[in-house]
Amino acid sequence: MSDELYRLVYYSHNTVTGDADAVEAAIISILAKSQVNNQRVGVTGALMFNSGCFAQVLEGPRSAVEEVFERIQQDDRHGDVSLLSFDPVPARAFENWSMGFVGASIGDAARYGVLVNGSGFDPAKMDGDALFETLRGLAMEEEHAAD
Ligand SMILES: Cc1cc2nc3c(=O)[nH]c(=O)nc-3n(C[C@H](O)[C@H](O)[C@H](O)COP(=O)(O)O)c2cc1C
Repeated sequence: MSDELYRLVYYSHNTVTGDADAVEAAIISILAKSQVNNQRVGVTGALMFNSGCFAQVLEGPRSAVEEVFERIQQDDRHGDVSLLSFDPVPARAFENWSMGFVGASIGDAARYGVLVNGSGFDPAKMDGDALFETLRGLAMEEEHAAD
């Protein structure tokens, strides 16, 4: 049935040219739009930007996730969009976030491409589960930091 809960994980390469301010402005605008759009269709998730790569988790009813991902793939602010996983899941992991930004702050991510946990984060070397766990771990750290 098409309204079963699904989770999608992908990564892509940033194609926004210009300096760090231009990249930061692009990410802020992507997030603002995503939060409005995703809330409307019941999609939640998290976005990370690091060293020129985006990694994103989308979760929600199958048809809504497919529709959002279709639009995302048409966006020329990134390219080489690589789907890592798209599977049914029993529950959401990002219940409270229509689209959360995780990892370094947007400004730092745009400026320094901060390495997550000093581990040389490279989404191309991860599978969907590993990338999902990375984003979920970062989201949990941020929710605790806000306590
Ligand atoms: C890395 C990246 C992640 C994005 N994530 C989302 C998202 O979660 N939800 C969304 O609606 N749009 C997302 N977008 C933006 C879409 O590609 C597109 O610009 C937007 O959905 C268009 O919305 P509109 O049709 O309401 O103008 C993302 C774009 C990029 C480059």
